[in-house]
Amino acid sequence: MRKGIYPGSFDPITNGHLDVLQRAAHLFDHLIIAIARDNAKASLFSIPERVHLVEKAAAALKLSNVQVLPFEGLLVEFARQQSAQAVVRGLRAISDFEFEFQMALMNRKLDPRVETIFLTPREELTYISSRIVKEIARLGGDVTSFVPSNVATALKAKLTEH
Ligand code: PNS
Repeated sequence: MRKGIYPGSFDPITNGHLDVLQRAAHLFDHLIIAIARDNAKASLFSIPERVHLVEKAAAALKLSNVQVLPFEGLLVEFARQQSAQAVVRGLRAISDFEFEFQMALMNRKLDPRVETIFLTPREELTYISSRIVKEIARLGGDVTSFVPSNVATALKAKLTEH
């Protein structure tokens, strides 16, 4: 069975992530969306909130082979625990490349059995990032064309909470 892991902060999940997710789901028998618990970045949404948002957004795509799990510690360790052969990362632009290349090589050094596969979203989604979406939402802009509808609603609720 071909098992893949699509890891990230997903704070929050965007339409760009969902595009990569759909592509990855077609490549594997089973795909785990792995939400990183111990990220150095300060997050807007908690882990349970992010898991819920990703689950709801992924369910709307009706992909039967996708599972959402939080993880902490090393990604290669999680991949080993889950018996996954590959990690999927989205590559939007050249600016992503340096960090992604470094991470892929480091993960290979840590565990040579885990391959990294890069997938690119549709070109009209390549400018979307969670960071920019959060900034636009904070400043009162409309994010409905960048994120799934449950995330747009959650962003509005979260930002009026503060
Ligand atoms: O969405 P992001 O923030 O770009 O995702 C980065 C993520 C979570 C995939 C990366 O930080 C990660 O793998 N963290 C787990 C800890 C780890 O294994 N670090 C070593 C990576 S070389």
